[in-house]
Parts: sequence; C-alpha cells; structure tokens
Amino acid sequence: MKKQDQWTSKTGFILAAAGSAIGLGAIWKFPYMAGTNGGGIFFLLFVLFTILIAAPILLAEFFIGRKAQSNAISAFKKLAPHTLWGTTGYLGIIVSLIILSFYSVIGGWILSYLARSLNGYFINKVQSDYVHIFDSIIENPVEVLGMQLLFMLITMAIIQGGIQKGIERASTWMMPALLVFFVLLAFRSLTLPGAMEGVSFLLKPDISSLTGQTVLLALGQSFFALSIGISVMVTYASYLPETENMPKSAATISALNIFISLLAGLVIFPAVFALGYTPDQGPGLIFVILPAVFHELVFGGILFTVFLILLLFATLTSAFSLLENIVAAFMKGRQDKRRRYTLIAGSLVFVIGIPSALSFGFLSDIHIMEKSIFDFADYITSNIGMPLGALLISLFVGYKIPKDLVFNELVQGSPKIAFVFKGWYFLIRYIVPFAIILIFLQSFEII
Ligand code: PHE
Repeated sequence: MKKQDQWTSKTGFILAAAGSAIGLGAIWKFPYMAGTNGGGIFFLLFVLFTILIAAPILLAEFFIGRKAQSNAISAFKKLAPHTLWGTTGYLGIIVSLIILSFYSVIGGWILSYLARSLNGYFINKVQSDYVHIFDSIIENPVEVLGMQLLFMLITMAIIQGGIQKGIERASTWMMPALLVFFVLLAFRSLTLPGAMEGVSFLLKPDISSLTGQTVLLALGQSFFALSIGISVMVTYASYLPETENMPKSAATISALNIFISLLAGLVIFPAVFALGYTPDQGPGLIFVILPAVFHELVFGGILFTVFLILLLFATLTSAFSLLENIVAAFMKGRQDKRRRYTLIAGSLVFVIGIPSALSFGFLSDIHIMEKSIFDFADYITSNIGMPLGALLISLFVGYKIPKDLVFNELVQGSPKIAFVFKGWYFLIRYIVPFAIILIFLQSFEII
C-alpha cells in the first residue's frame, strides 16, 4: 500500500482548495440566483452568510482533515471512534455524487460553447441569436449527454493521475488569468449605456423582496460557492503535510470567492439591463449574456474562446474536488485502487446525471416539488444536504472534539492566530449551528 497522497507544497493546497471553491458557483450560479431572488438583498445575505457561517465551516473542515489525515468518512470515525459521527461523511459523499451529477451537465454546456466558438460559430451572430443558440444546445439530448460524458471523462482522467500531478498543475495559472478576464469584462459591461440600472439591481438591497426561501437560497449559495458541508475540504486538507496557517487560507479563499461573485455580478447585470434582457432567466443566464458582452468587445470572438477555456478549467478544478472526495472515501488509502474507483465513481455520477441533463428538453415536463429534475437536484443538495452537513460539522468541532485539541492544531503557538481562534470558536459553537437551524425552520415555515 502506498502512502497517502500529499500536496507537493503549501501553495499546492491553497491553489487546489481555491480551485475547488471558485467555479460555477460564483460565475454561473450566483448571477442567476441573484437574478431570480431579488438581486441586492440576495447578494447582501450571501456576503453575510459567507463571512459568518460558511467561512468558519471551511476552517472547521480544514481542521478535521488536517488532524485526521484521512478521507471524508474515516476522518469523522477516526476523531470520534465508535460513534455515529461517520454519518456526516457518508452524507457528504452522497451529496457530492449528486452535485457532480448536475455540475457535469453545466460543464458539458461549456464544452458545447467551446466547440462552437472554436469553429467560429459565434462570429457574425446578432444579439437576438444567443437565446436561440442556448436553447438549441440544451434541448438536444445527444449533444448534452455527449458533452456531459466528455466532461466526466476529462475529470476522471485527471483524478486517476492522483493528487499532485493532476490537480496542482492545472490550478497554478488559470486562476489569475480568469480574474484578469473578469476585470476586463466588468469594465466593458459597466461602460455600456444604461449599465447603472444593473449595478443598483445588484448592490441596492430591497428588503421588500425578502422571503424565508430567499434566506435559505442565499445560505445554500454561500455553502455551494465555498464547497463546504460535504467534507470536500476535509479530504483536501488531509493531503496537507506540514504546518500551515489554515485560518489565513480559509479567509483568503472566502474573500476571493466573494470578490469573484461580485465581479461576475458586475459583468452580468449591467449587460442584462443595458442590452434589454431580464435578470430572471434561470440557469441559462450567463450563457446568453456572456456572448452578448463579448460581442461588444474588439476581438470578441477570440476572447470568448479564451474565456471559455478558462471557465472550463475553473469548472474542472471544482469537479476534481468532488470526484476526489468520492474516490478517496471509496479507496480508504488503498492507492492501488485509485483507477478502479475513479472509473466506478465517475460512471455512477454520469448515470445519476442523465435525468438532469435531459430535464431541459426531453424530460422538461417532469417536475418534482414544482421543480425541474435539474433544479430539484440542485435544491436538495445546496439547500438541504449542504446546510445539514455544515450543521453536523459545526456541532462536531464545537461540541464533540475537545477544545484544546482544536486549539493546538489550528493555533500552533502563534499569538495572532490565538486571537482569531477565539472569535472563530464562538461562531462555530454558538452562531453557526443555531443560525442554520433557524433558517431551516423559518424557510419551511415551521416557525
Ligand atoms: N464551489 C464549487 C463552485 O463554486 C462547487 C462545489 C461545491 C465544489 C461543493 C465542491 C463541493 O463551483
């Protein structure tokens, strides 16, 4: 049996954890969720929840993984033997399977766009074509399934390669490049005539549009965007060999995530209003708006292709973390089984994802709790599975694990971190669990 895989450096860990967090959550999901749930108020809640609830959980997951040095399921069992805490890990793996099953559908859409843009398909199109292009892609069963499969095959190929080689290499350069692109796009979008209406939509909270569901959806968004609640970050931190300032990493990743979400909003909403679209288009929003923004740029065609490649990388680095979480739990440290379990897990994800992929065309008439299959899969994972997992993790770290142990592992003798620790521990113990319970109860109208 080979030794547990490890990151080749601390930067490798931070890059990979940031790569997991930053992906479709900030770039695709945030704009469309904000667009359908009141704009400014959604953004405000998202930021608050990220800082007060999701970021503390991120650090809690780092702690569990680093301390236990093992996968999502065994980590809980190792730190609390002969208890039922392992359930938290099992829940995380099941939710990871479902998230990746629909995440790969969107990954497939990106591949479809990329293939078309490489063929020069978007050149000479006019603004009114973009809705039609998007619809014709997502309604075509052969295309969506084929591209979803291709996306999964790429993800599986990288995960089969193991930790350092696969994940780190891809993460090193794509993040800064993507950031530069977003700044450029935001600039273009903000200088369109009529853009300011979009800015106020995103930044001016309108309390009257606040509902219990909006609160839950914003909470779910903050969890989804930071990859927390399902022990993905436990698995990643378990590959961390040396001492590391984990509070700093958690804070950096959380701040970056808010920043990219904001940038994505500042790219999308000004363009939505300036170009005469509506913000509430659902999952297709960025796929319609982004080509329209690129259309307004010099060399827009080429830039769009480059952008799609970067977006694909961002999506892949998140998908890697989901698949790695599942595979690591299956392998239980038996590295020689990596190939086989990657194949099994990847195939399972693909099969589970088929109904979601088809729910925009062939299966569009099927609804569960008034939601399409895709929306339903997203809803139960982001808004029920992840908060439930996060609740268990906060209780585990706040009440089950002795405080000294948590303190020593995180603080490692640094007085500066000891100070931060106090605030964090307070949040984990007294704020996070009760806030999650309250939001659950309230959004399901129990209180
Ligand atoms: N955080 C990722 C994104 O924003 C999605 C994700 C969720 C990845 C959960 C891993 C675990 O795209």
